[in-house]
Amino acid sequence: MRPSFFHHLHPPTIPAVQSRWRHTLGAGGTAILLMLILGVTGILEMFYYVPNPQEAALSVQTITYHVPFGGFVRNLHYWSAQLLLIVSAIHLLRVVFTASYGRPRRFNYLLGLGVFVLAILLDFTGYILRWDEGICYPLVTGTNLLKTIPLIGDFLFRIAVGGGEACNTALLRFYTWHIFGLTIFVLILGVWHAFRVRRDGGIAVPPPQLRTDNERISRNELVRREVLQIFVVSIVLILMSIFLPAPIAAAMTGKPIVTEEARAPWFFLWVQQMLKWGDPFLFGVLIPFAVLTLTALIPYILPEPADADIGSWFPKSNRLAQIIIIAIALIVIVLTLMMVLT
Ligand code: HEM
Repeated sequence: MRPSFFHHLHPPTIPAVQSRWRHTLGAGGTAILLMLILGVTGILEMFYYVPNPQEAALSVQTITYHVPFGGFVRNLHYWSAQLLLIVSAIHLLRVVFTASYGRPRRFNYLLGLGVFVLAILLDFTGYILRWDEGICYPLVTGTNLLKTIPLIGDFLFRIAVGGGEACNTALLRFYTWHIFGLTIFVLILGVWHAFRVRRDGGIAVPPPQLRTDNERISRNELVRREVLQIFVVSIVLILMSIFLPAPIAAAMTGKPIVTEEARAPWFFLWVQQMLKWGDPFLFGVLIPFAVLTLTALIPYILPEPADADIGSWFPKSNRLAQIIIIAIALIVIVLTLMMVLT
């Protein structure tokens, strides 16, 4: 087969162990695919979305119910965004559970984490763009948390919201952050992250002298496996987008109401649960920031995994990292369930 552009993105051959699905779970590649779908569907939505408080929610309804295939495109955008967060979290877990973050991949671990944080912010800003009656409580709560940060809080609030009350004025800011500011950063960090995977020697495996399996596969075979994965993920996404409509609620009317019963988007429910316990700075800013910092420091403060363990699932030499990440995941899941069930 004559090499195409996609073939040139890969080295001519790679060790077979690096390409096994049971090793990578295909999660990083799936995250890239979802980001590409988000880019295309987002651009299509921009043809009809109106970033003005009086018309935004109506324009979302127009996209959903009147534009040919508009509902389908919006569902694709919505489900790709939700799946991206889940797939990125699975990818993070696999990187830690297979001890794949040690030198020289420490910096790329940080780049990946940066992309993940940006993806969460993109999901949040996108959720606000619906501008329906449900978004006011999370918008006010989220942006007020910024104000609690000592010294720079007011400055950050002004960057996020502009002036005035968030539920009246923040739409244009959030629109610009969503389609331009955050997107530019996610593109830069995302491309850098993918480039560093190759630059760091491909997917982490033990050095050749410690490997039991030294078989190599060609890039034709690698591209064939990637195309198969793209096919499977696309079918799942298409089926979800046909049968599960993205949420839509009535437009905000008159003075927006902030109700305590309103819910944050699902990925921030764990923070909303903690906010019930008191001090917004402690529970809404400090603790989430500490969780992020602890995750970021794993490759830097814990002992390096043993060479022979790199790429094997749940090896002994990085037990502590596994325990930390499992504890964080469990706490987030339990807090989320507490919020859902109360
Ligand atoms: C959210 C978007 C992300 C995208 C699009 C992405 C993309 C990728 C891809 C395509 C790979 C190579 C294939 C694979 O391992 O599946 C990879 C590897 C890697 N990623 Fe990510 N990633 C993301 C998030 C993260 C996060 C959150 C972390 C960790 C905090 C991370 C850390 C790494 C590391 C260390 C590698 C190299 C792993 C190895 O060599 O085995 N990435 N990423």
